Amino acid sequence: MARNRKRQSQSNIYAHIIGWGMRVPRTVLTNEDLAAIIETTDEWIESRTGIKERRIANDRETTAQLGLRAAKDALAMTDVLPSDIDLIIVATSTPENIFPSTASMIQHWLGAYNAGAFDLSAACSGFVYALDMAAQAIRSGSIETALVIGAETMSRVLNWQDRGTCILFGDGAGAVVLQARDNPGGLLSSVLRSDGSGHDLLGIPTFNSPEVRSPSGISEPRLHKMYMSGGAVMKFATRVIGASIKEACRLAGITLDDVKLVIPHQANERIIQAAARSLGFENDRFMSNLKYYGNTSAASIPIALCEALEQGKVSAGDYIVLVGFGGGLTWASTVIKWGVPYPADRSINTLQERRRQAEYFLVKLRVRMSRWLRRLSDLIRFRRNRDDFDW
Ligand code: UT7
Repeated sequence: MARNRKRQSQSNIYAHIIGWGMRVPRTVLTNEDLAAIIETTDEWIESRTGIKERRIANDRETTAQLGLRAAKDALAMTDVLPSDIDLIIVATSTPENIFPSTASMIQHWLGAYNAGAFDLSAACSGFVYALDMAAQAIRSGSIETALVIGAETMSRVLNWQDRGTCILFGDGAGAVVLQARDNPGGLLSSVLRSDGSGHDLLGIPTFNSPEVRSPSGISEPRLHKMYMSGGAVMKFATRVIGASIKEACRLAGITLDDVKLVIPHQANERIIQAAARSLGFENDRFMSNLKYYGNTSAASIPIALCEALEQGKVSAGDYIVLVGFGGGLTWASTVIKWGVPYPADRSINTLQERRRQAEYFLVKLRVRMSRWLRRLSDLIRFRRNRDDFDW
């Protein structure tokens, strides 16, 4: 009992989502396009997954770039300046590097000079994990404002010969701004879980993976490419989603009837419908947009949240549940009492917007200048080395 009490909001500080944004690449890859390159059909993909198309990033649309654009859109809905942000968390399985973090790159490009930044690895549950971490920090009083991003370029880690996985995934990013408020609501409860016994059911091997270090090694094409035992993951997902949602509702002190909308990780329409059935919900109480984007891993929940808000499916005072599941294995649910009326709160303070644009301009200038200075010093060093050599 004491354990449960601890997980709920303890103080009179509440962590509310006050801004949200999403970005997806322009390039659309349809099921028909896929059928031209691998042995599959539009009919098979749609009937087994619910997916019709997905977005694919070009060379310039990196995880950090997509995340940055989603973050700027989220900030544009608020009065928050980049310099007001205390913490940036990027949930991703496709970071720019093992380190430094994608979050640090976004922090730099935003000019969020007062923020800590780190990446969080919990696969498709990552966004819910990250939201909970940020909300805990806000509720404890240690920070006031956080930017939470889910960003992925899954297309770069797909094995395009494996029809069991490459048809499922897409690229994109979503972001939210979380801020401390004293009106009750926002993130009310979270349930984070992991079962590492299933760590080999889906993942992306890197140089340190046990398989790579084993005497037989791993074939080069599989390094940094995603693998998945689809059937086993599907069974796991359908088993945990309902129980996780029920537990999060119990901790928040609400019943399932109170829930207006569930925003699940967008992995497979069959999983979403099975979860809805298991809770006795009509399908329309589960948000689904994977028809257009496929599975964008850690980005799928914030993207679906943005679209649910755009479509007017969530209003002030509504209880919504976000639920993620995926590699690890991991799963996570969070109950949110929506506190920001939409679109009434969207009126932008123009002065603040100008200040934000000024901060972005200064950052761009600083980034360009440091690039020029680096090039100049490289050139000077090159000349000096060459002169030393000639001499
Ligand atoms: O984000 C992380 C969480 N991820 C998930 O939750 C994914 C969960 N898993 C799934 O969504 C499904 O397991 C898949 C969509 C990946 C696969 O669906 P399935 O109903 O489990 O199909 P299956 O793997 O059992 O394959 C059935 C048949 C097989 O042929 P045989 O052995 O019956 O002759 C496959 O070879 O379908 C075949 N198949 C395909 N056929 C046409 C597999 N992929 C394809 C394909 N096109 N793309």
